[in-house]
Amino acid sequence: MMRIRKAVIPAAGLGTRLYPMTRAQPKEMLPVLDKPVIHYVVEEAVNSGLDEILVIVGRGKEAIINYFDKSSMDDKVKDDYGLSSFPNILFVRQKEQLGFADAVRCARSFVGDDPFVVLAGDTIYRSGRKETVTSQLTSVLVKRHEPVIGLEKVPKELIRNYGIIDGSKEDGRIWKIRDMVEKPDPGDAPSNMGAIGLYALTPDIFDFIDRIKPGKNCEYQLTDALRLLAKEKTLLGYEIEGKRYDIGTKELWVSTFMEFARSDPRFGRR
Ligand code: UTP
Repeated sequence: MMRIRKAVIPAAGLGTRLYPMTRAQPKEMLPVLDKPVIHYVVEEAVNSGLDEILVIVGRGKEAIINYFDKSSMDDKVKDDYGLSSFPNILFVRQKEQLGFADAVRCARSFVGDDPFVVLAGDTIYRSGRKETVTSQLTSVLVKRHEPVIGLEKVPKELIRNYGIIDGSKEDGRIWKIRDMVEKPDPGDAPSNMGAIGLYALTPDIFDFIDRIKPGKNCEYQLTDALRLLAKEKTLLGYEIEGKRYDIGTKELWVSTFMEFARSDPRFGRR
């Protein structure tokens, strides 16, 4: 049976929507309670059986590399926070911030011929069932041998913040994707299912990334590569059971922090 072991975590973006907090520190190092966001992301990968992890970094992101450096940790930090159980993490540098798809492209030689998962470095997942959110997706890829992207139902007023799919529901939570529209007006959206920044992919995605042109802000968008893939091959979607917390804007970071604090007995209201 196919086993998925590789995780690619893009964390090289500039995080301009979080200025001035992120002028001199990576947004992936912002805390949610007592851990930086990137810690949750690596934890999600490890808890999903992914033990080969590549983080894409860029200029000014050295704090991420230092954070996972086991040689400089005292035992208490390693044991108390689970850092000792993390596998050794590899890093590669995205030379220019040319977008999410360009960051994924930096993982090409790491990925080789294997299936892999892409997790955004600024997004935390909490599963609504025993299996992690990432495992929900990899189970589909293992079964179907086709790439699958994480989806959630988006309320009308938030549709313009998402990549929305055009597709048909297959089986239970599985969708077959025909096309995708980036940040549509709610009136023009082909569905209410939005992409959540989590992807279980096959290595042929790199051929599609090579064929796309830069879009908004001169950035290469993974959505454009996925649209091509959906047209020429098969792209599945999976409506996750759980919740995603993207901390990419100030409002989202603050609300994530507050929700986590309220649900944690160490910090919640007594
Ligand atoms: P975002 O789409 O939120 O972009 O990235 P950003 O550039 O970090 O943020 P803003 O728009 O300037 O506020 C989603 C994830 O992809 C990574 C980011 O680090 C983040 O974890 N990313 C984005 C890259 O690795 N490289 C890029 O060129 C862009």
